[in-house]
Amino acid sequence: MSDSKKILVTGGAGYIGSHTAVELLETGYSVLVADNFSNSEPFILDRIRSISGKDFVFEQVDLSKQEEVKALFDKHPDVDGVIHFAASKAVGESVENPLLYYRNNLGSLVYMLESMLEKGIHSFVFSSSCTVYGQPDKLPVDEQAPIQKAESPYGNTKQICEEILSDTVNASPELKAIALRYFNPIGAHDSGLIGELPRGIPANLVPFVTQTAIGLREELKVFGDDYNTPDGSCIRDYIHVVDLAKAHVVAVDRLVNGNNKKGFEWFNLGTGNGASVLEIVKTFQEVTGEKVNYSVAPRRAGDIEQIWADTQFANDELGWKTERSLGEALSSAWKWEQNVRTELKK
Ligand code: WQD
Repeated sequence: MSDSKKILVTGGAGYIGSHTAVELLETGYSVLVADNFSNSEPFILDRIRSISGKDFVFEQVDLSKQEEVKALFDKHPDVDGVIHFAASKAVGESVENPLLYYRNNLGSLVYMLESMLEKGIHSFVFSSSCTVYGQPDKLPVDEQAPIQKAESPYGNTKQICEEILSDTVNASPELKAIALRYFNPIGAHDSGLIGELPRGIPANLVPFVTQTAIGLREELKVFGDDYNTPDGSCIRDYIHVVDLAKAHVVAVDRLVNGNNKKGFEWFNLGTGNGASVLEIVKTFQEVTGEKVNYSVAPRRAGDIEQIWADTQFANDELGWKTERSLGEALSSAWKWEQNVRTELKK
């Protein structure tokens, strides 16, 4: 149990941010959420309050604007640690508009670190991605695997952000940072009250599956069935968002309590198990009893064939492991899909 230290959660109305805000509040942290709703909805804030039964402070801030970041920290200099989710995250959009991604994702990180150092705030948890590994030579992939050239500006921002953190920690050893390399986060809170809410046509697999099952999309396209995998479709490590959120609490605990071993550390957040696209469809149908129309389509440009995490280091060092199954993740995604469609019709 933590004391009531105050954690700034940027992007706290977003998918992973909202689940993490719930876990922080339930652990006893006091929470400050900063978000500009560029890819999230204001009603999520009240849902975080109703799930946790706790209140928190909210600030509407565009973190890509330096003066807004400064004003945020001037108003809240008593923050003990920061979990920085706010970022643009659509791979395709980043190819079309790279400068938006470099400004939003790199600019905001630089401004945040400058303000944190100025205010003497020294604990920083960063949302990174397994995309930094590209297609690894060895599976499961561990934290020592080489970083490969990014496939997209989005992926490049994650790599550059990790370098910015490493350089800044070297120059300012009072700063401590942890990068969490997410595999594929899916699912929703058990309550069904918060979850992933993509705008427009979903780019990611599981929201496309749930939207197809509910009738919003005609059919799922399975991108490629001729990969060198057992059923020919791509393999990923799908992790329940609540397990992922809990890892953020553990990471921020580690920093604010001074239990980190190095100034800059990075961890894989995955389950250690791979699942193929066709297995996702099959498991979804089994656990929900819903039918998902699908057809096989050509491979999607930029997709790697297969990746899953070696979780040993995160399990040992953080004392954290996933507790929820793929079936639980998919049935929670379905519960959320039904809940949110009702909400949006209001
Ligand atoms: C998973 C699998 C697709 C949609 C990306 C980013 C990563 C992270 C998550 C940020 C792949 C297949 C998908 C569909 C399909 N980014 N698929 N039909 O590509 O592993 O990771 O999103 O937030 O950094 O790279 O995730 O969910 O898009 O795809 O067959 O309609 O599902 O080809 O094999 P991905 P995804």
